[in-house]
Amino acid sequence: MSKIIAFTGSNSSTSINDQLLKYSLQHFKNHSVEYIDLKALSVPIYSEDIEKESGIPDSIKKLRSTIDASDALVVAVNEHNGTMSAFFKNITDWLSRTGSYLEGKTILLLSSSPGQGAGRNCLEYTIANFKKFGGQIDQTFSLPSFQDHFQDGELSKAFKEDLMTSVTTFENNLK
Ligand SMILES: Cc1cc2nc3c(=O)[nH]c(=O)nc-3n(C[C@H](O)[C@H](O)[C@H](O)COP(=O)(O)O)c2cc1C
Repeated sequence: MSKIIAFTGSNSSTSINDQLLKYSLQHFKNHSVEYIDLKALSVPIYSEDIEKESGIPDSIKKLRSTIDASDALVVAVNEHNGTMSAFFKNITDWLSRTGSYLEGKTILLLSSSPGQGAGRNCLEYTIANFKKFGGQIDQTFSLPSFQDHFQDGELSKAFKEDLMTSVTTFENNLK
């Protein structure tokens, strides 16, 4: 059984991406998944001055250790102006100061937005960003028009099949 960790790159308490992530986690059958709430991390905006004075924040070091102890990640990303939200970029910038923090990690990447774009610009950006740090993107799933396709905690039939295929394939590709 592989150890999977999961988090969302949004700091919104009503994040649609977090809803999509948690929904997808309900459908994991063969591996243990630990959910991490990134909102709970106390992380200043990256600054070389802060790093020189105080080093890498303890919460980032702890997150790095948790990633190191995992085999795979499920990450949902939200799109702000065609790329990652500043909240998540900040966390990935701090993590990057710890080295290749995703080396050897298999990743399922999710995105959604209220519009037709489905957060795909951010998804593409995140794929390139994660690859720089050794991440292996195994599966992706993007949900357009979240409010139309996710109601009362359930995904519409048209997209559920695709998500289930991504989750099952991801699980099967793990040891
Ligand atoms: C500052 C800002 C920029 C945004 N830019 C985009 C964008 O470029 N593309 C997009 O599809 N949605 C954009 N949106 C809408 C977000 O996709 C929407 O707020 C979504 O709910 C964010 O995901 P979350 O709920 O998981 O945080 C933007 C929203 C904000 C507040």
